[in-house]
Parts: sequence; C-alpha cells; structure tokens
Amino acid sequence: SEYAHVTFVVMGASGDLAKKKTFPCLYRNFCHGDFPNGQVSILGFARSKLSTEDLHKKMKETIKEPQDPSEKQKYDEFFKLVEYVRAENGYDHPESYATLEKEMSKREENIGDAKGKECLRVLYVALPPSSFEDAAKNIKQACWNTEKVNRVIIEKPFGRDTKSARELAKTLTGLYNKADLFLVDHYLGKEIAKQILAFRFGESSTALGGMFSRNSVEYVAVQFKETFGAEGRGGYFDQFGIVRDVMENHLMEFICFATMEQPTALTPEGLSEARINLLKSVATIKPEDVVVGQYGAGKGDKKAYREDETVQDDSKASTFAAAVLYINNDRWSDVPFYLMAGKALDEDRVELTLHFKDNQKSLFSLPEAHVKFFAKDLKLPHNSLTFRDKPAEEVVLATSTKQHGGYAFELAPTELKLDLKSTRSGDKDKDYDPQSYEFLFKAAMENDQTWFVDMKEAEVQWHVWEDVVTQVEQVVEPVMYEYGSKGPKEADDLLAKHVQRRRQGSTAPPTTLE
Ligand code: BG6
Repeated sequence: SEYAHVTFVVMGASGDLAKKKTFPCLYRNFCHGDFPNGQVSILGFARSKLSTEDLHKKMKETIKEPQDPSEKQKYDEFFKLVEYVRAENGYDHPESYATLEKEMSKREENIGDAKGKECLRVLYVALPPSSFEDAAKNIKQACWNTEKVNRVIIEKPFGRDTKSARELAKTLTGLYNKADLFLVDHYLGKEIAKQILAFRFGESSTALGGMFSRNSVEYVAVQFKETFGAEGRGGYFDQFGIVRDVMENHLMEFICFATMEQPTALTPEGLSEARINLLKSVATIKPEDVVVGQYGAGKGDKKAYREDETVQDDSKASTFAAAVLYINNDRWSDVPFYLMAGKALDEDRVELTLHFKDNQKSLFSLPEAHVKFFAKDLKLPHNSLTFRDKPAEEVVLATSTKQHGGYAFELAPTELKLDLKSTRSGDKDKDYDPQSYEFLFKAAMENDQTWFVDMKEAEVQWHVWEDVVTQVEQVVEPVMYEYGSKGPKEADDLLAKHVQRRRQGSTAPPTTLE
C-alpha cells in the first residue's frame, strides 16, 4: 500500500525489549523495504529523560554499524527516521499522549505533494502491565485520529490471570474495533511454529499426521531454556515470573499448533478458532503437578536472582517452572504434556518433542546405553519427533536403524535431521529469513492478523494456568537451583511420575472448561 506518511510509535522505547528486539527488527524491516511506501517516522516514546541522540546511542548497542558502504547508507537513513518523544507526565497521564499526538501530526503535515493519500499510524504498546489500561484509553482519546488509518499492536502479558484478562479484553474491545487491534505473541511469528502446521496439515499429513495422537505418543515435552537470567528486568519479572512470562502464552501456542484439529482455513479466524477449541479442552493444571524454582548464584560472577538490584530480597518469583497438563479429547486424553521453562540454565533451547511409545513387539533391542532413564526402571523410548527453534531451527525424527555394514544385525539410534535452512529455494526474496518481530511488524503494517492472538484466546489461556498463578507461583517457596545448571531435579521426577502413571493406566480424569 501507499500512504502519505507512516508513523510507527514504539511505546516503552527505553526498555529491554525495545533494545533487544523491537528496534533491531524495525531496522531489519527498513533495510528489507517492509515499510509501506510513504514518508516514514519512527517515534520512540518512554518516560525516561532522554534525547533523540541518547536513544540512538542505546539502540546502537544492539544495531551494529555495518561495514559495507551501501548498508551503511541505509543505517544512517534509518537513524534519521528515529526520534524520541518523552512521556513527561508518565504513561498514565493524558498529557503525555497529547504531546505524542502533536509530534505525530507535525510530521504528517509535511507531506508535500502526497496530499490526498492517507496517513498510517501504528502504535506498538509495550508498556509496564500496570499502565496498559490507562494507555489504551489515552491512546484512543488523544492519538486516534479518524482521518488517518490507526492500528495498535499490544505486547503481552494480556492480564495476569483470568479476571484481569477479562477486564483488559473488556477495555480493549470497548475502545477499539477488532480489526484495528493486533495482540502479539511473538512465538506465533516464529518459523518453527509454522513448520508444525506445515507438517500436520500439509502434504505430509497423510503419512506423518497420524503420529500426532495418543495412539503413538507416550508424552509430549515442551522446553524453554535460556542461559541468561532476569538481569535488569526485575521490575517486570518479579511481578510476573516465568509462568506468566513465557509458559502461559508462548509455550501454549506451540502446544496448540501441535495438538489442535485442522483449522477450517489459514485465516485469523480459522487459526484462532482451532486454538481456542483446543484450549477449552485443556484441564486446569493442578498445583501438585507443578514444580517452581529460582536461580541462586552460579560460577564466576553469576549473581542469584534475589541479588539483582531490581528484585525484592525475599522474592518468591519463579525463574523456573515445570508443569504437566492434560488435554481431554479423543486425540490426546491421558497423554502427559510436560512443560518446562527456565532462565539461567545450562543451555539455550526451545523445542517441542513428541516422545513415542515403546514398541512392545520389537524384533530388536536397543543397547541400554541408548535408552534414557528418568527414574529407576523408567525407560524412556528414544523414538521422538522434535520441532526445534533453538539452538537451531530443525525438525528431528529420532529413531533407530540397522547399524550400517557389519555382519551382526544390530540397531543403533539415528536421527533424521531436517535443517530447515537447507530447504531454501535459492530465490533471494523467498529465502529472506525475517525474525519473528520483524515478520509481525510487517504483517501489522499490511493489516494481516493471521499470526496474532485473539482476545478470547488470551483469556482462555489463563484458565489452564489459573491455579498455578494463584496458588503456586509467587506463593510457594521455590526450589533453589544454581545459575547455569540444569534446574531443579524435582522437575525430572514430576515427568517420571506422570509417565509411570500413564503406563499403569491410572491417570485421573481431569476437568476442563465448559
Ligand atoms: C519474551 C520473554 O516474551 O520472550 C522473555 O518476556 C524471553 O523473558 C523471550 O527471554 C524469549 O524470546 P525468544 O524469541 O528469544 O525465544
């Protein structure tokens, strides 16, 4: 599309997300030509007392100056578009938004001969959750100009439990049309999330689709592991914890894609309907099926979570959690879904794995060394299918094949590994690999809601975690684990307990949302 002017506002411009992801992705959008045609302004909006130069300096910590002269030119052009607007009266005060409106209008007036074309305003709201509601109201009141095309992108968290999510939904839907609202869960923009759909509902469905059910699967594991802690983000993290930060949303999106029935169409409505239907059959997780942890100090200068300046000294916030959930439908009943997420662990890993049942009638046996044990006598089969985001984007089918060559007929574990980057077409445009936020910003600018969250979905997600966030997280004393370790051992025991229970056929029927 073509506009006279395009304004992209980054609300929360001095924060960690803006530095790590938002601005670097907008820079990539700019270099790749993703902004619609028209004059572009990028406005950073935050409370801190900063100048535009200060903001640029912060941004340049993560957007490195390129060596190539033509790229350098783009780099300079990009920074010319980025300016800072201070929310002098804070995020809760209308004055701040009136200032922003003035700054946007000023830029939109200088459009020369582009008069007659529309102006587009995209406001990306990544603010402290306590300011969300006020911000939503103030934006509508001060910055929503009916003569322009206005869109608002809202960053998670969408509430902190069912009740607050419902209230937020009420506020947002009271103020905005659904078509103007873009709720971000950036895991929906990830390549690997779409690959799950391609596997399940594409050409391979007839051959491989059948793997995705209780008939083949013994348990499913979703892991989110990061090597860094919550350093400097305590102000937000201490109030929210790992369950609200990544499990309730990001990990659930992966689970939905791996378990939902085929959507009626690859449309925003089709996808969110399929996810919501699935979420409704997920039972609320029981407090006894959760382990929460918090990292203590590690080797070298790795400080304990509680030692961080931005964190309460006696904080109970979880930086690690493991939980088991069940989906009550014909396809998945009885299958334990083990979800684990942690900060300050031994590796960076994000993946979803279907662990298949053991073949009881196998002609062959696998050497014990190749079998995983979680608990005494609990053999976990090697057979699995993994969709991996980190450390590399790949799909891996772990199985076993005959050891090649030799006189003996022996099986050895093998991996059929698909490096997703190797599936590139050779066409430069098609092969361009956008980062998740970059993909979503472009989609929002083009008015495509396919990979965004439906407000109803955000609400239903909470019902799964309701007891965990109210009865466990931030209430129960977390188990301590060392910075850089594998996390609390109790998490392994939790998984083992559920797998064992299923093998003995004694999974209690869980309750689900009506
Ligand atoms: C964010 C969380 O939503 O996702 C962070 O708030 C987390 O705590 C991040 O680090 C992980 O995203 P990614 O894309 O790096 O896997």
